[in-house]
Amino acid sequence: MTILILGSGGREHTFAWKLAQSPKCEKLYVAPGNSGTAQIATNVNINVTDFEAIKALVIEHQIDMVVVGPEDPLVLGIHDFFLNDDTLKTVAVIGPQKAAAALEGSKEFAKEFLIRHHIPTAAYQSFNAENISEGYAFLETLTPPYVLKADGLAAGKGVLILNDLNEAKTELKSMLLDAKFGDASQKVVIEEFLDGIELSCFVLTDGKHYKILPTAKDYKRIGEGDTGLNTGGMGAISPVPFASESFLKKVEDQIVKPTVDGLIKDKLPYKGFIFIGLIKVGDDPKVIEYNVRMGDPETEVVLPRLKNDLVSLFKAISEERLNEIQIDIDNRAATTVMLVSGGYPEAYEKGKEISGLETITDSIAFHAGSVLKDGKIVTSGGRVMAITSYGDSYQEAIKKSYQTIAKLHFDKINYRKDIGFDLD
Ligand code: AMP
Ligand code: GLY
Repeated sequence: MTILILGSGGREHTFAWKLAQSPKCEKLYVAPGNSGTAQIATNVNINVTDFEAIKALVIEHQIDMVVVGPEDPLVLGIHDFFLNDDTLKTVAVIGPQKAAAALEGSKEFAKEFLIRHHIPTAAYQSFNAENISEGYAFLETLTPPYVLKADGLAAGKGVLILNDLNEAKTELKSMLLDAKFGDASQKVVIEEFLDGIELSCFVLTDGKHYKILPTAKDYKRIGEGDTGLNTGGMGAISPVPFASESFLKKVEDQIVKPTVDGLIKDKLPYKGFIFIGLIKVGDDPKVIEYNVRMGDPETEVVLPRLKNDLVSLFKAISEERLNEIQIDIDNRAATTVMLVSGGYPEAYEKGKEISGLETITDSIAFHAGSVLKDGKIVTSGGRVMAITSYGDSYQEAIKKSYQTIAKLHFDKINYRKDIGFDLD
């Protein structure tokens, strides 16, 4: 098969690494890709939302399958674009259609779906510019902290958690009336604050059947001890040690099954990954959010634990016979630590040469924000590289990641030294 992966992060390098291991993968393209995907696939410099350019590429190289990494093309309807085009409709697309991708594209849509299908989640109400005074009144009925979410896609920045009522009202006003997050905050969901520990559950579905992949925990804040600004993710661990078998059974019965049944009942066409952000409140799981793709850097610990041939798995999804597949998971733990550019998630410099990669023996470097330039690998983004290791325990795996990192260098390198700190 000839396969195209859309995206350029550590997630997409991990997809490429895994797909390239399959004897069924004859030719692999990544658009736009990075320095990691360049080593195992052919990078093509096309934007993931330029559907016409993607169409031309698919026709030119007779691509059989497109694996969509990030959310934007899905929310914009890339799967529907393929289905509605006579020359593209036989190409397998891994990722939900537009109507289902709204589970990530609109927080209000996701909350309505959760409530309609009786899936445990925080109580909420949503507001717009016309009924903002009702929003203020709703905030007054809540106890702090206050959770405000921009309805639309806001590159992971659209959620505010505030301790002070007046501050919450001011932010609500700035979101609804002053377009704090642009069009994404034309509507705002105000939610009950859930107190607990977060984890993520990953599900593959062909729209009829589902398979649950390993859990993972992501570390979102820039600073050690979960302090400072939110990032795209600074590290991840799989499996999640506190997700016991009985807890995971609740996740499947109360959340995964009703989610897939809900997709079927609501006629939301879905062939791809569902990433369910959970919070464990006491011993019960509640849904914080749906994403309609894999997480990054969660992919860098989940896929390395998957023993199945990924091309066969994707083919089974596209042909709606996921029920025929048995998922086979490596029992070892996997951890990843993200190397980031100094200053990230605020302003940072690019173009720094990365050295030491040739010394890596005990880990895998999944490239994220790095590119090949004049034969050298240089930084090109905030999140530069995810260093993944296996171990019999997550403690052993994380130790290996840090031993590998000690041999890597670029100017102003930064990373969290405490991934997993809250799990002992
Ligand atoms: P989201 O973009 O919906 O994942 O929200 C970003 C982050 O905000 C989550 O990862 C949580 O840490 C936090 N968060 C979101 N909703 C809630 C909630 N209802 N209660 C507590 N924390 C929340
Ligand atoms: N690591 C969180 C995300 O991919 O959204």
